[in-house]
Amino acid sequence: MDPAILHIHEEERRFPPPQAFKAKARIKSIAEYNSLYEESIRHPEQFWAKQAELLRWFKGWDSVFDWDREACRFTWFKAGKLNVSDNCLDRHLEAHPEKVAIIWQGEPEQEVRMLTYRQLHQEVCKFANVLKKKGFRKGDRVCVYLPMIPEAAIAMLACTRIGAIHSVVFAGFSSAALKDRIQDSQAEILVTADGSRRSGKDINLKEMADIAIKDCPSIKNVIVVQHVKNSAAMRKGRDSFWHEEMCGISDICEPEHMDAEDPLFILYTSGTTGKPKGALHTTGGYLVYVHLTFRDIFDYKDSDIFWCTADVGWITGHSYIVYGPLSNGATVLMFEGVPTYPDNDRFWHVIEKFKVTVFYTAPTAIRALMRFGDAPVKKHNLSSLRLLGTVGEPINPEAWMWYYSTIGNSKCPIVDTWWQTETGGILISPLPGAMTLKPGSVSRPFFGIRPVVYNEEGNLAKRDEGGYLAITHPWPGLMRTVWGNHERYIETYWEKYKGEYFTEDAARIDKDGDIWLMGRIDDVIKVSGHRIGTAEVESALVSHPSVAEAGVVGRPHQIKGQCLYAFVTLKHGIQGTDQLKQELIQHVSTTMGPIAKPDYIQFADGLPKTRSGKIMRRILKAIAEGAADVGNTTTLADPTVVDELLKHRIE
Ligand code: WTA
Repeated sequence: MDPAILHIHEEERRFPPPQAFKAKARIKSIAEYNSLYEESIRHPEQFWAKQAELLRWFKGWDSVFDWDREACRFTWFKAGKLNVSDNCLDRHLEAHPEKVAIIWQGEPEQEVRMLTYRQLHQEVCKFANVLKKKGFRKGDRVCVYLPMIPEAAIAMLACTRIGAIHSVVFAGFSSAALKDRIQDSQAEILVTADGSRRSGKDINLKEMADIAIKDCPSIKNVIVVQHVKNSAAMRKGRDSFWHEEMCGISDICEPEHMDAEDPLFILYTSGTTGKPKGALHTTGGYLVYVHLTFRDIFDYKDSDIFWCTADVGWITGHSYIVYGPLSNGATVLMFEGVPTYPDNDRFWHVIEKFKVTVFYTAPTAIRALMRFGDAPVKKHNLSSLRLLGTVGEPINPEAWMWYYSTIGNSKCPIVDTWWQTETGGILISPLPGAMTLKPGSVSRPFFGIRPVVYNEEGNLAKRDEGGYLAITHPWPGLMRTVWGNHERYIETYWEKYKGEYFTEDAARIDKDGDIWLMGRIDDVIKVSGHRIGTAEVESALVSHPSVAEAGVVGRPHQIKGQCLYAFVTLKHGIQGTDQLKQELIQHVSTTMGPIAKPDYIQFADGLPKTRSGKIMRRILKAIAEGAADVGNTTTLADPTVVDELLKHRIE
């Protein structure tokens, strides 16, 4: 078994839900959870049909669930008709039109926008009409490349209103990453901004977009939000400004009646090859799933101010800034800035300013802020908080404890939520009023989710034995296919355990039935919680004229969780200087985005390869991690390269 799957640490601390929390919680005891869970497993169709009725449907479904196991195709709520924006907006207009839907806090303190449900509805209808005017219809692809501003949510919801499929690309990605994603989805319109802000600096997003779309003939229109107000170069006939398009356009737009299985969005995510996979989510199942998980895991109350710090460009932003909260009629906070600018108390300041009640962030942010000690936290009154959450990577117990005691003042449960871009919503997490928490454990499966752990031999792992995590049955929020490549979908997720969804994560289930995640088993690295495919970084490195070959692996990092360590072979005759290292780091940053920058570059004359020429990342990983033993090297074409690599390892 891979040593990464061995578990050593035994966590003994237990945190039952505080009485005050439990008393008001939706699900108040483990017994209540058990009985609902049982029901969801025993009668999944009945269970999900009941949950689907929480939404508004134009027409009911013919069958709840159909599954062609052989073809790896399944449907939920077949022939049912609904519209996502109708459920996120129109449905709330009667009950609370003036409730704030989005509180936007810009990076500059004084920039705040509040959008009520009525206003958000209006903006969405208008932008939907802009798209229609440009000829966009059901099924067309719209690429959204925007910073954390309300227009991102407006553009997404406008797509759902007319049935266009959005593909949001994280604004921290640069031109090459954007280009690949547009080319794959064949989007015809790009919605972007003149710029985005980061720690007091403006980043010229439009310029990056322009470089990307040089190679994207599918793009016919570019709509540009004037955000930082630089003088973005606009191309006549193709580019136009958001505010000009929105001027004088009607705010009436009837929602398209979408089939439950009509595509809702594509979201690209890194995998083992250089080409990112377009995870395709569909309308009905996805919305039912994010609606329910948001309500129950975050124990939603009408009075909540919910803050999820993820970017809308990631699945967490899609599901728990936009669709989950808004379909529940919640107030969400959207924050443009970073945790440490202008000061390292910015998060705590924002929580106090808006009296945030539920705060959902990533372990990397917690670790980064923990470094500054308690003083920046103590400057603020965080008593509005009642619940905390984390997502994106395993949280180390030390960071968990700090989050619990210093941020939550030992009165807020923490929901450590495990899920993936592919899964649409949270699959494994505590229910905060019902479960006793163990720092570092993600607790129990959500309703309808059947996780299993297989050991190396392919048998069910024993209690506490590490192994591979799979989910035996589809749930409504599971992605339906890889955009344009169903074969890859089958190969990646359904082949390892025939007919079961393979997560590519390692995990163990302890003697109480609580689940512990142990990291990814493929070539995907979680850098600050961002999912980076090493193959994509390798291909960015190799696109530099001096580079012949590259192998990229992860190395543990105190704050980021993991960082990237690149082994680079230069072309013949090129000197590996420090200056070239900097140039390569910059090159990755401008092609892929700053999040993909390697922290270490080691020049190497040769990389460890099998006789068939495949780079053995296992060995590179052992070297980067400083392992005493790099493991078996007998299958290498040239085992001597390993000694060379070890000799020049960067400490
Ligand atoms: C990891 C993010 C441990 C995991 C929603 C998964 C986690 C990958 C947790 C998906 C958690 C996410 N504990 N690991 N609570 N949450 N992961 O697609 O390895 O960006 O496979 O989705 O993040 O990353 P993705």
